[in-house]
Amino acid sequence: MTPPALRCDQVVKRYGDFCAVDRVSLEVDGGEIVALLGPNGAGKTTLIGCITGLVNATGGTITVFGQDVRRDFRTARRLVGLVPQEINFDPFFTPLESLMIQMGLMGQRPDRAWCEELLDRFALSDRRDAYTRHLSGGMKRRLLVAKALVHRPKLLFLDEPTAGVDVELRKSLWDEVRRLRSEGTTVLLTTHYLEEAEELADRIAVMRRGRLLVVEPREAMLARGQGRSLEEIFVELVHSEEPPCSP
Ligand SMILES: Nc1ncnc2c1ncn2[C@@H]1O[C@H](COP(=O)(O)OP(=O)(O)OP(=O)(O)O)[C@@H](O)[C@H]1O
Ligand SMILES: [Mg+2]
Repeated sequence: MTPPALRCDQVVKRYGDFCAVDRVSLEVDGGEIVALLGPNGAGKTTLIGCITGLVNATGGTITVFGQDVRRDFRTARRLVGLVPQEINFDPFFTPLESLMIQMGLMGQRPDRAWCEELLDRFALSDRRDAYTRHLSGGMKRRLLVAKALVHRPKLLFLDEPTAGVDVELRKSLWDEVRRLRSEGTTVLLTTHYLEEAEELADRIAVMRRGRLLVVEPREAMLARGQGRSLEEIFVELVHSEEPPCSP
């Protein structure tokens, strides 16, 4: 039996007395797109950090394609791509250099043609030799996505990939996410644009105060609203007193 792309089992992250991620269990199958929603501070980025090795979980276990993210860190890390919420480049590199360097960091042979193709996919070809510090905010974000793809990860985390990206480019990023899925990539994305979740996600997960409140196929989630929008369903969920179901 093939292991799921991602399995989180009772994942906990504490900062002192504060519990940023509280016993989260979640399974994602290969080829799925899952949208992780939740208000500011819900724990989405922290959970992604625990999975990608940026945050040291306090408890629980996490595997990607059956590899334990702590015990088999190197193998697990190369299976995942991360588009972080915060923009983090060396401002003195060009987009092309950034991609080439990232390939090296991920243990790949340098492949300039692939890096150029990625720049093309993300409409950055004409800026490939500019300093990254001279790119606009949306361009920087697109470069972050390209950077996360250099090693062709099987599981991709997109932490608010379209924040600050204009409408047209947001739609082209959606196309890119669908294309990745059609190529077999599994995607977990966070977003505050609920239409993005509605547009892309096979399943929708909602977090609040560290807890995973609900994970459901998109249709089931929308059916909760009986004609109301996902936004209304979301607001109701995050304001509900008790979690509507245990994760
Ligand atoms: N290094 C840290 N030390 C202490 N608290 C932290 C740390 N990192 C995150 N937190 C806290 O953990 C909680 C969850 O933060 P997180 O960034 O995961 O939220 P989020 O769901 O990604 O929110 P947003 O939608 O604003 O990006 C917040 O209350 C945050 O202040
Ligand atoms: Mg976040």
